[in-house]
Amino acid sequence: MASVAPSKPRSPQDYRGAERLLAWYDRHARTLPWRTRQGDPPADPYRVWLSEIMLQQTTVVTVGPYFADFLARWPNVAALAAAPLDDVLTAWAGLGYYARARNLHRCAQMVAGELGGVFPDREAELLKLPGIGRYTAAAIAAIAFGQRAVVVDGNVERVVARLFKVETPLPAAKAELHRLADGLTPEQRAGDFAQAMMDLGATVCLPRRPKCLLCPLEADCQAKAAGIAQGLPRRQSKAAKPTRRAVAFWLMAADGALLLRRRPEKGLLGGMMEVPSTPWREAPWPAAEAQAAAPAAAEWRELPGLVRHTFTHFHFEVTVWAARAQSKAIDAGHWVSLDGLADEALPTVMRKIIAHGLTQTAVVGRDD
Ligand code: ADE
Repeated sequence: MASVAPSKPRSPQDYRGAERLLAWYDRHARTLPWRTRQGDPPADPYRVWLSEIMLQQTTVVTVGPYFADFLARWPNVAALAAAPLDDVLTAWAGLGYYARARNLHRCAQMVAGELGGVFPDREAELLKLPGIGRYTAAAIAAIAFGQRAVVVDGNVERVVARLFKVETPLPAAKAELHRLADGLTPEQRAGDFAQAMMDLGATVCLPRRPKCLLCPLEADCQAKAAGIAQGLPRRQSKAAKPTRRAVAFWLMAADGALLLRRRPEKGLLGGMMEVPSTPWREAPWPAAEAQAAAPAAAEWRELPGLVRHTFTHFHFEVTVWAARAQSKAIDAGHWVSLDGLADEALPTVMRKIIAHGLTQTAVVGRDD
C-alpha cells in the first residue's frame, strides 16, 4: 500500500484518509452474509441488490435472517421474478416499508425479463429500476461492479459531517456532505471504501459516544479537534409526530378462524393483510361511529388495553373490539385459522394487534 500522507482534510481533494480507512477495513470489516472480501470471487449483483434493498431503513441485525431466507427460497433473480407477489410479501413481513417488497418483485421481473437476467452495472441504468434510488444505485455499482460511485447513507453522512466539521443541520447539509464524500472516494476499491465508511459509522463513529480512540481518521477529524464530534451532524428539529387512532375488529368464527382482509394495493402497507378496522385518523372513535365501520353486525365488546405502533410519520393507537361471528358468510375479507396466520403477509403492526387479541380474548374469556 502506498505511504499515507499526513494530510488534514481541509479540502477533500488533498485528503489521503481513504487509504487509511481501507487498511482499517481490511482488518476490521464486519463479516456480513452478503459481503465478499479481497481475494473472494466478485460479489453476486443479485445478493448485493437484495441486501441493499433490505438494508434501506432496516438494521444489519434485523436483515440477516431475512436475507438468508430469501436466498434459500429464491437463489437468483429469475427465481424471485417467478415467485407469486404474495409469497414475497409474506416472506418480507416484519421488515417494514412494504412498498420495498413490491418494488423488489417488480425490479426482479424487469431484470429477469427485459434485461435478460443481467443487472446493469452503471448507476444511471440502475436508477431506472423500481426501488433503486440514488443511494442504492451507487451502492450496487460500487459493491457489485467495482465502479467508482459515491455512496452516502446516514452512517456516511455522520462520518463526513464530523471529519469536516459540517455544522449545517440535516437535511439542508445533504448536498454538501455528498460533495465532501465525493472528494474522499478513491478510484480503486470504491465498494470496499463505501462499506468501510458504513462500518466505521456503525461500529466506531457512533451517533452517541463515538469511539474516537479506535478511529483510523481521528487525527484528521475536525469535529473531534473542536470537541463537538458527538453533537454532529446537527438535525433540523422535526415537527412532533401526530397520533392516528383506529378501532380494529377481532371477529372469530365458531371454528376459531379469524377474519382478515387485504389492504388496498396503493398506500401504506399496500397489499398486505390486516385485521379489519375503521379508517385511521387523529380524532378518537366514538362507539357508535366505530360500530358503523364494523365488518359485520355482532355483539362487539371492547378489549382492555391499547395497541401502539410507530410509523415513520405518525404514532398509531388501536383499540380492539372482539365478537363471535354468527356465520362465515361475510364478504368483507377472508377467514384464516390461527395456525395459518404464519403464512399470511401480516405487517408488524397487525401481528401486534393479533397478539393483543389473542391474549385479551383469553383473559376476558369467550362469551359462550
Ligand atoms: N448498510 C447498507 N448497506 C450496507 C453494507 N453493504 N454494509 C454494511 N452496512 C450497510
